[in-house]
Amino acid sequence: MKKDCILEFENVSKYYGDELVFNNVNLKIKKGEVISIVGKSGSGKSTLLKCINRLESIDNGNIKFKGMDIAKKSLVELRQKIGIVFQDYNLFEHLTVFDNLMIGLIKIKGYSKKDSIHKVLNILKKMDLTDKKDKYPDELSGGQKQRIAIARTLLMEPDIILLDEPTSALDKEMRDSVLELINDLVDEDMTLIVVSHENEFVNKVSDRIFILNKHTLLEKKNG
Ligand SMILES: Nc1ncnc2c1ncn2[C@@H]1O[C@H](COP(=O)(O)OP(=O)(O)OP(=O)(O)O)[C@@H](O)[C@H]1O
Ligand SMILES: [Mg+2]
Repeated sequence: MKKDCILEFENVSKYYGDELVFNNVNLKIKKGEVISIVGKSGSGKSTLLKCINRLESIDNGNIKFKGMDIAKKSLVELRQKIGIVFQDYNLFEHLTVFDNLMIGLIKIKGYSKKDSIHKVLNILKKMDLTDKKDKYPDELSGGQKQRIAIARTLLMEPDIILLDEPTSALDKEMRDSVLELINDLVDEDMTLIVVSHENEFVNKVSDRIFILNKHTLLEKKNG
């Protein structure tokens, strides 16, 4: 493994029961790379992302994060290092924005209350959402919720962020604010794996684009 390879798929196959999702996937991702995965509905894009942080198991091959088989890592650590953001945000509806952001810092990262407050206020400011801190998720727009979901992932200080159609539930105006935020992550050299139908955006930000088709992952060549 090269030193800068952060994530590696080696001959990975995944079935649901008898149904093959993908077969023999090989992929090496370098730190700071932005990879996009495209493909038809049902081709297995979400499943592939879920395998990376063990929301789904694999049936063959292995996935290595910084050279170590992810099956050997603790789930808590793996999911801290590899954050995932879904299309429908997954915020805790009964907690305010502030508490949604605090909870992981205290319970997972183990930061003190004082440090956590500082970090939360900082990221809210950066995202221009300070005035929403005491609101509940159902008082926010879709774009605001998605930005909070991304902020919550960022606070875990992940090495990789997986984005599964982060804008597909949003209308145009809200979409732009989320794409802008993702663009900032690209500029900050975050390693990203993005599943998105936003072709223009995908073409602009991706170092490499892969197509999942007929159970196979293939790199899309430019031109
Ligand atoms: N938990 C599950 N159990 C059984 N089959 C599943 C499960 N999740 C997904 N599938 C099937 O696996 C295949 C891949 O699904 P997946 O959700 O990964 O596709 P996708 O490419 O993300 O599609 P979309 O673009 O619609 O989100 C589909 O045929 C789907 O029906
Ligand atoms: Mg999907």
